[in-house]
Amino acid sequence: MRISVEEACARLLNGEVVAVPTETVYGLAARLHSREAIEHVFKLKNRPADNPLIIHIATAQELKSFTMSSVPHVDQLIQTFWPGPLTLVLPIENTKIPDIARANLSTAAFRLPNHPIAQAIASRVGPLVAPSANLSGHPSATIPEHVEEDFGSDFPVVNGGACEGGVESTILVFFEGYWHIGRLGILPPEVFSEVLGYQPEPLDMKKEKEASIVCPGQYYRHYAPLCRLILGYQGYDGQSCAVVGYHDRSYPQANEVLFLGSSTDPDEVSHNLYKILRLLDEKKIPEAWVDLNVPRLGLWRTVIERLSRAAL
Ligand code: TXA
Ligand code: MG
Repeated sequence: MRISVEEACARLLNGEVVAVPTETVYGLAARLHSREAIEHVFKLKNRPADNPLIIHIATAQELKSFTMSSVPHVDQLIQTFWPGPLTLVLPIENTKIPDIARANLSTAAFRLPNHPIAQAIASRVGPLVAPSANLSGHPSATIPEHVEEDFGSDFPVVNGGACEGGVESTILVFFEGYWHIGRLGILPPEVFSEVLGYQPEPLDMKKEKEASIVCPGQYYRHYAPLCRLILGYQGYDGQSCAVVGYHDRSYPQANEVLFLGSSTDPDEVSHNLYKILRLLDEKKIPEAWVDLNVPRLGLWRTVIERLSRAAL
């Protein structure tokens, strides 16, 4: 069900949950100080209680009212990348953020989205929690129809059309003296080098401490279609009948090809990625070969990471 910004604000004030567009993916918004609404978010998504939520704020100043100690480079990161698809995990004053939103951690994840609808709603009735508007384990929603697929056609969504980015924000976590990538996202690690003086590395998810304490959400299965994906870095061998590939390449033996975009345009590919993953299941395709013969650089890294998780 499509609703206006006004109605979304009224519903949020009334303790309800609504879906809102952002520049990355749709978010499932609830007011940060409405415990029941946040409980509803976890229930709707079927999200484990130990996976904390991202908080949307409307101004960079708001951040100061939640955070405690000063962490190196925070101001420069905010100046350079906010509003935008960067989420910062920072130590907070525990009393200022409900424990349910941060899964009892002493940190919280903050984001100032660069989307006029998300900003309008956050500035009128925020701060909000806003995890991605999909069932846990499903690909995120990048159009209103995806939200309705997961939560039903009566679920209230503010229509912002297709989200430009198509994959989630990049999460930066400060850990043992350095910023690390908690989740690859729209902003590739390379873009932080100038501000930080070093390129942040992804956290090592194999290390118990880094994975479970610092970025718990990355432990869970993500972005998974029912379709079995076979990742291919070499040329297509004709084994699976469906191929997920690029419109500037040819796969002559395939019965069906789903196009992610051009093999030279990672922005287009990330924009289309979850739509294609969802389409595989809509078309009831049981198995597909995925062309991953792209550079392991920039936004391609995020695309490869999401497809690799989807194939687990
Ligand atoms: O682009 C986005 O970030 C979207 C839009 C809607 O804002 N939101 C989003 O939220 O992707 P969600 O809940 O699907 O992903 C949040 C991720 C999870 O992996 C969670 O574990 C991590 O952020 N996270 C949240 N709080 C954290 C914290 N205090 N420490 C470490 N990781 C945290
Ligand atoms: Mg999510």
